[in-house]
Amino acid sequence: MTDRTQNAMWGGRFAAGPDAIMEAINASIGFDRRLYAQDIAGSRAHAAMLAERGIISDSDAAAIREGLLTVLSEIEGGNFAFSTALEDIHMNVEARLKEVIGEPAGRLHTARSRNDQVATDFRLWVRDQCDAAVGGLAALKKALLAQAEAGADWVMPGFTHLQTAQPVTWGHHMMAYVEMFARDAGRFRDARARMNECPLGAAALAGTSFPIDRHMTATALGFDRPMANSLDAVSDRDFALEFLSAAAICAVHLSRFAEELVIWSSAQFRFVALSDRFSTGSSIMPQKKNPDAAELIRAKIGRILGATVALFTVMKGLPLAYSKDMQEDKEQVFDAADTLMLALAAMEGMVRDMTATRENLERAAASGFSTATDLADWLVRSLGLPFREAHHVTGSLVALAEKRGCDLPDLTLHEMNSVHGGITQEVYSVLGVHNSVASRQSYGGTSPDQVRAQIARWKQRLG
Ligand code: ARG
Repeated sequence: MTDRTQNAMWGGRFAAGPDAIMEAINASIGFDRRLYAQDIAGSRAHAAMLAERGIISDSDAAAIREGLLTVLSEIEGGNFAFSTALEDIHMNVEARLKEVIGEPAGRLHTARSRNDQVATDFRLWVRDQCDAAVGGLAALKKALLAQAEAGADWVMPGFTHLQTAQPVTWGHHMMAYVEMFARDAGRFRDARARMNECPLGAAALAGTSFPIDRHMTATALGFDRPMANSLDAVSDRDFALEFLSAAAICAVHLSRFAEELVIWSSAQFRFVALSDRFSTGSSIMPQKKNPDAAELIRAKIGRILGATVALFTVMKGLPLAYSKDMQEDKEQVFDAADTLMLALAAMEGMVRDMTATRENLERAAASGFSTATDLADWLVRSLGLPFREAHHVTGSLVALAEKRGCDLPDLTLHEMNSVHGGITQEVYSVLGVHNSVASRQSYGGTSPDQVRAQIARWKQRLG
Protein backbone atom coordinates (compact mmCIF):
# COMPACT_ATOMS: atom_id res chain seq x y z
CA MET A 1 0.00 0.00 0.00
CA THR A 2 1.46 3.32 -1.04
CA ASP A 3 0.72 6.19 1.25
CA ARG A 4 -0.33 8.90 -1.16
CA THR A 5 -1.52 12.40 -0.52
CA GLN A 6 -5.11 12.82 0.51
CA ASN A 7 -7.62 13.88 -2.06
CA ALA A 8 -8.03 17.63 -1.80
CA MET A 9 -11.75 17.45 -2.56
CA TRP A 10 -12.91 14.76 -0.17
CA GLY A 11 -9.85 13.76 1.87
CA GLY A 12 -11.02 15.30 5.16
CA ARG A 13 -11.94 12.04 6.86
CA PHE A 14 -9.09 10.03 5.35
CA ALA A 15 -5.78 9.38 7.07
CA ALA A 16 -4.15 7.96 3.94
CA GLY A 17 -4.49 8.53 0.20
CA PRO A 18 -5.70 5.84 -2.18
CA ASP A 19 -3.62 2.92 -3.36
CA ALA A 20 -2.35 3.32 -6.93
CA ILE A 21 -4.63 0.51 -8.06
CA MET A 22 -7.57 2.18 -6.36
CA GLU A 23 -6.76 5.36 -8.20
CA ALA A 24 -6.51 3.50 -11.48
CA ILE A 25 -9.90 1.83 -11.17
CA ASN A 26 -11.57 4.91 -9.74
CA ALA A 27 -10.40 7.68 -12.01
CA SER A 28 -12.46 8.68 -15.01
CA ILE A 29 -10.45 11.68 -16.13
CA GLY A 30 -8.88 9.60 -18.90
CA PHE A 31 -12.22 9.69 -20.70
CA ASP A 32 -14.59 12.14 -19.02
CA ARG A 33 -12.33 15.05 -19.94
CA ARG A 34 -14.49 15.11 -23.04
CA LEU A 35 -17.18 16.67 -20.87
CA TYR A 36 -15.11 19.74 -20.04
CA ALA A 37 -17.21 22.25 -22.01
CA GLN A 38 -20.46 20.92 -20.55
CA ASP A 39 -18.96 20.84 -17.05
CA ILE A 40 -17.86 24.46 -17.28
CA ALA A 41 -21.18 25.60 -18.76
CA GLY A 42 -23.02 23.82 -15.92
CA SER A 43 -20.79 25.40 -13.28
CA ARG A 44 -21.16 28.88 -14.73
CA ALA A 45 -24.95 28.55 -14.72
CA HIS A 46 -24.86 27.21 -11.17
CA ALA A 47 -22.66 30.08 -9.92
CA ALA A 48 -24.91 32.70 -11.52
CA MET A 49 -27.93 31.12 -9.86
CA LEU A 50 -26.24 30.92 -6.44
CA ALA A 51 -25.56 34.67 -6.61
CA GLU A 52 -29.04 35.47 -7.89
CA ARG A 53 -30.49 33.63 -4.89
CA GLY A 54 -28.11 35.37 -2.47
CA ILE A 55 -26.35 32.09 -1.57
CA ILE A 56 -22.94 33.43 -2.64
CA SER A 57 -21.89 37.02 -3.24
CA ASP A 58 -22.05 38.64 -6.65
CA SER A 59 -18.31 39.24 -6.59
CA ASP A 60 -17.56 35.58 -5.83
CA ALA A 61 -19.90 34.50 -8.62
CA ALA A 62 -18.24 36.90 -11.04
CA ALA A 63 -14.78 35.61 -10.09
CA ILE A 64 -15.95 32.02 -10.48
CA ARG A 65 -17.61 32.62 -13.83
CA GLU A 66 -14.62 34.52 -15.17
CA GLY A 67 -12.13 31.99 -13.79
CA LEU A 68 -14.05 29.15 -15.42
CA LEU A 69 -13.60 30.85 -18.79
CA THR A 70 -9.87 30.93 -18.16
CA VAL A 71 -9.92 27.21 -17.38
CA LEU A 72 -11.96 26.61 -20.53
CA SER A 73 -9.43 28.40 -22.72
CA GLU A 74 -6.58 26.53 -21.06
CA ILE A 75 -8.22 23.19 -21.86
CA GLU A 76 -9.09 24.24 -25.39
CA GLY A 77 -5.58 25.53 -25.94
CA GLY A 78 -4.08 22.26 -24.75
CA ASN A 79 -2.47 23.97 -21.75
CA PHE A 80 -4.24 22.06 -19.03
CA ALA A 81 -2.54 19.40 -16.92
CA PHE A 82 -5.18 16.75 -16.21
CA SER A 83 -4.54 14.90 -12.96
CA THR A 84 -5.55 11.31 -12.26
CA ALA A 85 -5.31 11.99 -8.53
CA LEU A 86 -8.19 14.43 -9.01
CA GLU A 87 -10.28 11.57 -10.43
CA ASP A 88 -12.59 13.24 -12.86
CA ILE A 89 -13.30 16.30 -14.97
CA HIS A 90 -15.40 17.91 -12.24
CA MET A 91 -12.61 17.93 -9.66
CA ASN A 92 -9.92 18.75 -12.20
CA VAL A 93 -11.78 21.88 -13.27
CA GLU A 94 -12.59 22.93 -9.70
CA ALA A 95 -9.03 22.40 -8.49
CA ARG A 96 -7.66 24.47 -11.33
CA LEU A 97 -10.26 27.16 -10.67
CA LYS A 98 -8.93 27.37 -7.11
CA GLU A 99 -5.42 27.91 -8.44
CA VAL A 100 -6.69 30.62 -10.78
CA ILE A 101 -9.06 32.58 -8.51
CA GLY A 102 -8.26 31.34 -5.01
CA GLU A 103 -10.76 31.15 -2.15
CA PRO A 104 -14.06 31.92 -3.98
CA ALA A 105 -13.61 28.67 -5.95
CA GLY A 106 -14.48 26.77 -2.78
CA ARG A 107 -18.00 28.26 -2.84
CA LEU A 108 -18.93 26.86 -6.28
CA HIS A 109 -19.85 23.43 -4.97
CA THR A 110 -22.51 24.84 -2.62
CA ALA A 111 -25.92 23.16 -3.09
CA ARG A 112 -24.54 20.72 -5.64
CA SER A 113 -22.93 17.29 -5.80
CA ARG A 114 -20.90 15.55 -8.41
CA ASN A 115 -23.93 13.30 -8.80
CA ASP A 116 -26.18 15.98 -10.26
CA GLN A 117 -23.16 17.60 -11.89
CA VAL A 118 -22.20 14.54 -13.93
CA ALA A 119 -25.83 13.79 -14.79
CA THR A 120 -26.15 17.34 -16.15
CA ASP A 121 -22.86 17.32 -18.05
CA PHE A 122 -23.57 13.98 -19.64
CA ARG A 123 -27.10 14.92 -20.65
CA LEU A 124 -25.77 18.04 -22.33
CA TRP A 125 -23.19 15.97 -24.19
CA VAL A 126 -25.66 13.31 -25.34
CA ARG A 127 -28.12 16.03 -26.35
CA ASP A 128 -25.47 17.45 -28.69
CA GLN A 129 -24.89 14.00 -30.13
CA CYS A 130 -28.59 13.65 -30.90
CA ASP A 131 -28.34 16.88 -32.88
CA ALA A 132 -25.18 15.65 -34.61
CA ALA A 133 -26.88 12.38 -35.56
CA VAL A 134 -29.88 14.24 -36.97
CA GLY A 135 -27.48 16.43 -38.97
CA GLY A 136 -25.51 13.45 -40.28
CA LEU A 137 -28.71 11.68 -41.24
CA ALA A 138 -30.02 14.77 -43.05
CA ALA A 139 -26.87 14.90 -45.18
CA LEU A 140 -27.18 11.20 -45.96
CA LYS A 141 -30.84 11.56 -46.89
CA LYS A 142 -29.95 14.38 -49.29
CA ALA A 143 -27.32 12.19 -50.97
CA LEU A 144 -29.90 9.41 -51.34
CA LEU A 145 -32.46 11.85 -52.74
CA ALA A 146 -29.98 12.95 -55.41
CA GLN A 147 -29.44 9.30 -56.40
CA ALA A 148 -33.20 8.70 -56.42
CA GLU A 149 -33.86 11.73 -58.57
CA ALA A 150 -31.24 10.76 -61.14
CA GLY A 151 -32.66 7.27 -61.48
CA ALA A 152 -36.34 7.63 -60.62
CA ASP A 153 -37.28 5.49 -63.65
CA TRP A 154 -34.26 3.21 -63.92
CA VAL A 155 -35.34 -0.37 -63.62
CA MET A 156 -33.56 -2.90 -61.43
CA PRO A 157 -34.47 -6.26 -59.96
CA GLY A 158 -36.31 -6.15 -56.67
CA PHE A 159 -35.42 -9.08 -54.45
CA THR A 160 -37.04 -11.21 -51.82
CA HIS A 161 -34.82 -13.90 -50.29
CA LEU A 162 -32.15 -12.29 -52.50
CA GLN A 163 -33.91 -14.02 -55.40
CA THR A 164 -35.28 -11.92 -58.25
CA ALA A 165 -38.85 -11.05 -57.32
CA GLN A 166 -40.26 -8.14 -59.34
CA PRO A 167 -38.72 -5.22 -61.17
CA VAL A 168 -38.46 -2.06 -59.11
CA THR A 169 -36.99 1.34 -59.79
CA TRP A 170 -33.60 2.51 -58.58
CA GLY A 171 -35.28 5.61 -57.20
CA HIS A 172 -37.68 3.47 -55.22
CA HIS A 173 -34.85 1.51 -53.66
CA MET A 174 -32.99 4.69 -52.69
CA MET A 175 -36.14 6.21 -51.24
CA ALA A 176 -36.69 3.14 -49.06
CA TYR A 177 -33.50 4.11 -47.23
CA VAL A 178 -34.63 7.72 -46.99
CA GLU A 179 -37.67 6.45 -45.08
CA MET A 180 -35.50 4.33 -42.79
CA PHE A 181 -33.01 7.08 -42.04
CA ALA A 182 -35.84 9.54 -41.48
CA ARG A 183 -37.27 7.25 -38.81
CA ASP A 184 -33.81 7.10 -37.26
CA ALA A 185 -33.69 10.89 -37.15
CA GLY A 186 -37.13 10.86 -35.55
CA ARG A 187 -35.85 8.54 -32.83
CA PHE A 188 -32.95 10.87 -32.06
CA ARG A 189 -35.33 13.84 -31.98
CA ASP A 190 -37.74 12.04 -29.68
CA ALA A 191 -34.93 11.00 -27.36
CA ARG A 192 -33.61 14.56 -27.32
CA ALA A 193 -37.00 15.99 -26.41
CA ARG A 194 -37.39 13.48 -23.56
CA MET A 195 -33.87 13.99 -22.18
CA ASN A 196 -34.13 17.77 -22.21
CA GLU A 197 -34.79 18.14 -18.48
CA CYS A 198 -32.15 19.37 -16.07
CA PRO A 199 -30.83 17.25 -13.17
CA LEU A 200 -28.80 20.13 -11.69
CA GLY A 201 -29.87 21.03 -8.16
CA ALA A 202 -30.87 17.47 -7.26
CA ALA A 203 -27.58 17.62 -5.34
CA ALA A 204 -26.39 14.24 -4.01
CA LEU A 205 -29.86 12.68 -4.14
CA ALA A 206 -32.30 14.46 -1.82
CA GLY A 207 -32.24 18.04 -3.07
CA THR A 208 -30.78 20.80 -0.92
CA SER A 209 -31.66 23.06 1.98
CA PHE A 210 -30.27 26.08 0.12
CA PRO A 211 -32.93 28.25 -1.58
CA ILE A 212 -31.79 27.42 -5.11
CA ASP A 213 -33.68 28.15 -8.34
CA ARG A 214 -33.60 25.04 -10.47
CA HIS A 215 -35.71 26.67 -13.16
CA MET A 216 -33.06 29.32 -13.64
CA THR A 217 -30.21 26.87 -14.21
CA ALA A 218 -32.40 24.66 -16.41
CA THR A 219 -33.21 27.61 -18.66
CA ALA A 220 -29.62 28.84 -18.75
CA LEU A 221 -28.49 25.44 -20.03
CA GLY A 222 -31.22 25.20 -22.67
CA PHE A 223 -33.28 22.58 -20.87
CA ASP A 224 -37.06 22.71 -21.02
CA ARG A 225 -37.45 22.33 -17.23
CA PRO A 226 -35.75 20.85 -14.17
CA MET A 227 -36.23 17.14 -13.55
CA ALA A 228 -39.10 16.70 -11.14
CA ASN A 229 -37.63 14.15 -8.73
CA SER A 230 -34.15 14.52 -7.28
CA LEU A 231 -33.64 10.77 -6.75
CA ASP A 232 -34.56 10.10 -10.35
CA ALA A 233 -32.44 13.02 -11.54
CA VAL A 234 -29.18 11.53 -10.25
CA SER A 235 -30.08 7.88 -10.96
CA ASP A 236 -31.42 8.12 -14.46
CA ARG A 237 -29.41 7.08 -17.49
CA ASP A 238 -32.42 6.41 -19.73
CA PHE A 239 -31.25 9.24 -21.95
CA ALA A 240 -28.00 7.40 -22.65
CA LEU A 241 -29.82 4.10 -23.18
CA GLU A 242 -32.23 5.79 -25.58
CA PHE A 243 -29.40 7.39 -27.50
CA LEU A 244 -27.62 4.04 -27.77
CA SER A 245 -30.81 2.26 -28.80
CA ALA A 246 -31.50 4.82 -31.51
CA ALA A 247 -27.86 4.55 -32.60
CA ALA A 248 -28.09 0.74 -32.72
CA ILE A 249 -31.20 0.81 -34.92
CA CYS A 250 -29.58 3.39 -37.18
CA ALA A 251 -26.47 1.21 -37.36
CA VAL A 252 -28.66 -1.74 -38.38
CA HIS A 253 -29.99 0.33 -41.28
CA LEU A 254 -26.49 1.43 -42.23
CA SER A 255 -25.28 -2.16 -42.18
CA ARG A 256 -28.12 -3.34 -44.43
CA PHE A 257 -27.36 -0.67 -47.00
CA ALA A 258 -23.64 -1.31 -46.68
CA GLU A 259 -24.24 -4.99 -47.40
CA GLU A 260 -26.21 -4.10 -50.52
CA LEU A 261 -23.38 -1.86 -51.71
CA VAL A 262 -20.89 -4.70 -51.19
CA ILE A 263 -23.06 -7.02 -53.26
CA TRP A 264 -23.92 -4.44 -55.91
CA SER A 265 -20.31 -3.42 -56.46
CA SER A 266 -19.13 -7.01 -56.98
CA ALA A 267 -18.02 -8.24 -60.42
CA GLN A 268 -21.06 -10.54 -60.55
CA PHE A 269 -23.55 -7.69 -60.08
CA ARG A 270 -21.91 -4.48 -61.24
CA PHE A 271 -25.01 -2.48 -60.27
CA VAL A 272 -22.87 0.33 -58.90
CA ALA A 273 -19.34 1.60 -59.20
CA LEU A 274 -17.97 3.04 -55.99
CA SER A 275 -15.64 5.98 -56.35
CA ASP A 276 -11.89 5.65 -55.93
CA ARG A 277 -12.20 8.01 -53.00
CA PHE A 278 -14.25 5.46 -51.10
CA SER A 279 -12.54 2.25 -52.18
CA THR A 280 -9.19 0.60 -51.58
CA GLY A 281 -6.91 -1.68 -53.58
CA SER A 282 -5.34 -5.03 -52.81
CA SER A 283 -1.63 -5.31 -52.19
CA ILE A 284 -1.43 -8.59 -54.13
CA MET A 285 -4.31 -8.63 -56.64
CA PRO A 286 -3.91 -5.64 -58.97
CA GLN A 287 -7.44 -5.91 -60.40
CA LYS A 288 -9.14 -5.48 -57.04
CA LYS A 289 -11.14 -2.47 -55.95
CA ASN A 290 -12.51 -3.24 -52.54
CA PRO A 291 -15.58 -1.67 -50.91
CA ASP A 292 -13.79 -1.32 -47.55
CA ALA A 293 -15.85 1.63 -46.36
CA ALA A 294 -19.05 -0.32 -46.93
CA GLU A 295 -17.62 -3.37 -45.18
CA LEU A 296 -16.52 -1.32 -42.18
CA ILE A 297 -19.89 0.40 -41.94
CA ARG A 298 -21.48 -3.06 -42.10
CA ALA A 299 -19.29 -4.09 -39.15
CA LYS A 300 -19.68 -0.98 -36.97
CA ILE A 301 -23.01 -2.19 -35.65
CA GLY A 302 -20.92 -4.62 -33.59
CA ARG A 303 -19.39 -1.82 -31.54
CA ILE A 304 -22.57 0.20 -31.26
CA LEU A 305 -24.73 -2.72 -30.24
CA GLY A 306 -21.94 -3.86 -27.91
CA ALA A 307 -22.00 -0.47 -26.18
CA THR A 308 -25.79 -0.64 -25.94
CA VAL A 309 -25.76 -4.07 -24.35
CA ALA A 310 -22.94 -2.99 -22.02
CA LEU A 311 -24.81 0.00 -20.62
CA PHE A 312 -28.08 -1.90 -20.29
CA THR A 313 -26.14 -4.47 -18.30
CA VAL A 314 -24.51 -1.81 -16.09
CA MET A 315 -27.85 -0.16 -15.29
CA LYS A 316 -29.85 -3.33 -14.74
CA GLY A 317 -30.55 -3.99 -11.05
CA LEU A 318 -28.87 -0.81 -9.75
CA PRO A 319 -30.62 0.46 -6.64
CA LEU A 320 -31.43 4.18 -6.35
CA ALA A 321 -29.75 6.58 -6.28
CA TYR A 322 -26.23 7.16 -7.67
CA SER A 323 -23.80 4.24 -7.72
CA LYS A 324 -20.26 4.40 -9.06
CA ASP A 325 -21.23 1.73 -11.56
CA MET A 326 -22.75 4.58 -13.52
CA GLN A 327 -19.32 6.01 -14.28
CA GLU A 328 -19.12 3.14 -16.79
CA ASP A 329 -21.74 4.87 -18.94
CA LYS A 330 -19.43 7.31 -20.62
CA GLU A 331 -16.88 5.29 -22.58
CA GLN A 332 -19.64 3.22 -24.14
CA VAL A 333 -21.61 6.23 -25.26
CA PHE A 334 -18.51 8.11 -26.44
CA ASP A 335 -17.39 5.20 -28.57
CA ALA A 336 -20.86 4.51 -29.95
CA ALA A 337 -21.38 8.19 -30.82
CA ASP A 338 -17.97 8.53 -32.50
CA THR A 339 -18.57 5.32 -34.42
CA LEU A 340 -22.02 6.35 -35.57
CA MET A 341 -20.98 9.82 -36.75
CA LEU A 342 -18.08 8.38 -38.71
CA ALA A 343 -20.24 5.68 -40.27
CA LEU A 344 -22.88 8.24 -41.27
CA ALA A 345 -20.26 10.51 -42.84
CA ALA A 346 -18.64 7.61 -44.71
CA MET A 347 -21.99 6.39 -45.99
CA GLU A 348 -22.94 9.86 -47.13
CA GLY A 349 -19.65 10.21 -49.01
CA MET A 350 -20.02 6.81 -50.63
CA VAL A 351 -23.60 7.47 -51.74
CA ARG A 352 -22.76 10.92 -53.06
CA ASP A 353 -19.86 9.54 -55.12
CA MET A 354 -21.25 6.25 -56.40
CA THR A 355 -22.46 5.70 -59.94
CA ALA A 356 -25.30 3.32 -60.66
CA THR A 357 -24.85 1.42 -63.93
CA ARG A 358 -28.22 1.80 -65.59
CA GLU A 359 -27.70 -0.83 -68.33
CA ASN A 360 -26.60 -3.47 -65.85
CA LEU A 361 -29.54 -2.73 -63.58
CA GLU A 362 -31.97 -3.02 -66.49
CA ARG A 363 -30.39 -6.18 -67.87
CA ALA A 364 -30.62 -7.83 -64.47
CA ALA A 365 -34.17 -6.57 -64.01
CA ALA A 366 -35.29 -8.35 -67.17
CA SER A 367 -33.80 -11.70 -66.16
CA GLY A 368 -35.06 -14.27 -63.71
CA PHE A 369 -38.69 -14.21 -64.91
CA SER A 370 -39.12 -10.97 -63.01
CA THR A 371 -42.42 -10.14 -64.70
CA ALA A 372 -44.13 -13.42 -63.82
CA THR A 373 -46.44 -11.61 -61.38
CA ASP A 374 -47.41 -9.17 -64.14
CA LEU A 375 -48.30 -12.12 -66.33
CA ALA A 376 -50.44 -13.68 -63.60
CA ASP A 377 -52.14 -10.33 -62.94
CA TRP A 378 -52.87 -10.03 -66.71
CA LEU A 379 -54.50 -13.46 -66.71
CA VAL A 380 -56.72 -12.30 -63.85
CA ARG A 381 -57.54 -8.95 -65.38
CA SER A 382 -57.95 -9.90 -69.04
CA LEU A 383 -59.14 -13.50 -68.91
CA GLY A 384 -60.98 -13.38 -65.59
CA LEU A 385 -59.00 -16.28 -64.10
CA PRO A 386 -59.00 -16.66 -60.31
CA PHE A 387 -55.57 -15.54 -59.04
CA ARG A 388 -54.67 -19.01 -57.80
CA GLU A 389 -55.29 -20.49 -61.26
CA ALA A 390 -53.42 -17.61 -62.93
CA HIS A 391 -50.51 -18.33 -60.57
CA HIS A 392 -50.53 -21.97 -61.66
CA VAL A 393 -50.68 -21.16 -65.39
CA THR A 394 -47.85 -18.67 -65.01
CA GLY A 395 -45.80 -21.25 -63.13
CA SER A 396 -46.18 -23.63 -66.09
CA LEU A 397 -45.10 -20.87 -68.51
CA VAL A 398 -42.03 -20.15 -66.37
CA ALA A 399 -41.18 -23.86 -66.39
CA LEU A 400 -41.57 -23.90 -70.17
CA ALA A 401 -39.30 -20.84 -70.60
CA GLU A 402 -36.77 -22.38 -68.26
CA LYS A 403 -36.77 -25.58 -70.35
CA ARG A 404 -36.31 -23.51 -73.49
CA GLY A 405 -33.53 -21.50 -71.87
CA CYS A 406 -35.27 -18.19 -72.55
CA ASP A 407 -37.17 -15.52 -70.64
CA LEU A 408 -40.96 -15.03 -70.55
CA PRO A 409 -41.18 -12.42 -73.36
CA ASP A 410 -39.22 -14.80 -75.64
CA LEU A 411 -41.96 -17.46 -75.62
CA THR A 412 -44.05 -17.45 -78.81
CA LEU A 413 -47.81 -16.99 -78.61
CA HIS A 414 -48.09 -20.54 -79.88
CA GLU A 415 -46.04 -21.80 -76.95
CA MET A 416 -48.10 -19.69 -74.52
CA ASN A 417 -51.31 -21.11 -75.95
CA SER A 418 -50.03 -24.62 -75.40
CA VAL A 419 -50.35 -23.83 -71.69
CA HIS A 420 -53.51 -21.69 -71.84
CA GLY A 421 -55.55 -21.21 -75.03
CA GLY A 422 -56.98 -17.82 -74.01
CA ILE A 423 -53.70 -15.91 -73.98
CA THR A 424 -53.51 -13.22 -76.70
CA GLN A 425 -50.82 -11.05 -78.25
CA GLU A 426 -51.72 -8.32 -75.72
CA VAL A 427 -49.88 -10.24 -73.00
CA TYR A 428 -46.50 -9.10 -74.33
CA SER A 429 -47.22 -5.55 -73.30
CA VAL A 430 -47.10 -6.48 -69.61
CA LEU A 431 -43.97 -8.60 -69.85
CA GLY A 432 -41.53 -5.72 -70.34
CA VAL A 433 -39.87 -4.41 -67.19
CA HIS A 434 -40.68 -0.77 -67.93
CA ASN A 435 -44.36 -1.52 -68.31
CA SER A 436 -44.17 -3.61 -65.18
CA VAL A 437 -42.86 -0.81 -62.97
CA ALA A 438 -45.02 1.84 -64.64
CA SER A 439 -48.10 -0.19 -63.76
CA ARG A 440 -47.38 -0.20 -60.03
CA GLN A 441 -49.19 3.03 -59.31
CA SER A 442 -50.51 2.11 -55.89
CA TYR A 443 -49.56 4.60 -53.17
CA GLY A 444 -45.91 4.03 -52.19
CA GLY A 445 -45.42 1.68 -55.16
CA THR A 446 -42.44 1.45 -57.46
CA SER A 447 -43.77 3.33 -60.52
CA PRO A 448 -41.67 6.34 -61.52
CA ASP A 449 -44.71 8.56 -60.89
CA GLN A 450 -45.04 7.33 -57.33
CA VAL A 451 -41.29 7.58 -56.75
CA ARG A 452 -41.22 11.15 -58.03
CA ALA A 453 -44.05 12.00 -55.68
CA GLN A 454 -42.06 10.52 -52.78
CA ILE A 455 -38.99 12.48 -53.83
CA ALA A 456 -40.96 15.73 -54.04
CA ARG A 457 -42.45 15.17 -50.58
CA TRP A 458 -39.02 14.55 -49.02
CA LYS A 459 -37.35 17.40 -50.85
CA GLN A 460 -39.86 19.77 -49.38
CA ARG A 461 -39.34 18.33 -45.89
CA LEU A 462 -35.56 18.35 -46.06
CA GLY A 463 -35.34 21.80 -47.62
N1 ARG B 1 -16.82 10.53 -12.19
C1 ARG B 1 -18.09 10.26 -11.62
C2 ARG B 1 -19.00 9.61 -12.67
O1 ARG B 1 -18.69 9.70 -13.79
C3 ARG B 1 -18.72 11.51 -11.12
C4 ARG B 1 -19.71 11.33 -10.04
C5 ARG B 1 -19.02 10.86 -8.81
N2 ARG B 1 -19.90 10.85 -7.70
C6 ARG B 1 -19.57 10.26 -6.55
N3 ARG B 1 -20.41 10.30 -5.60
N4 ARG B 1 -18.42 9.64 -6.39
O2 ARG B 1 -19.99 9.00 -12.38
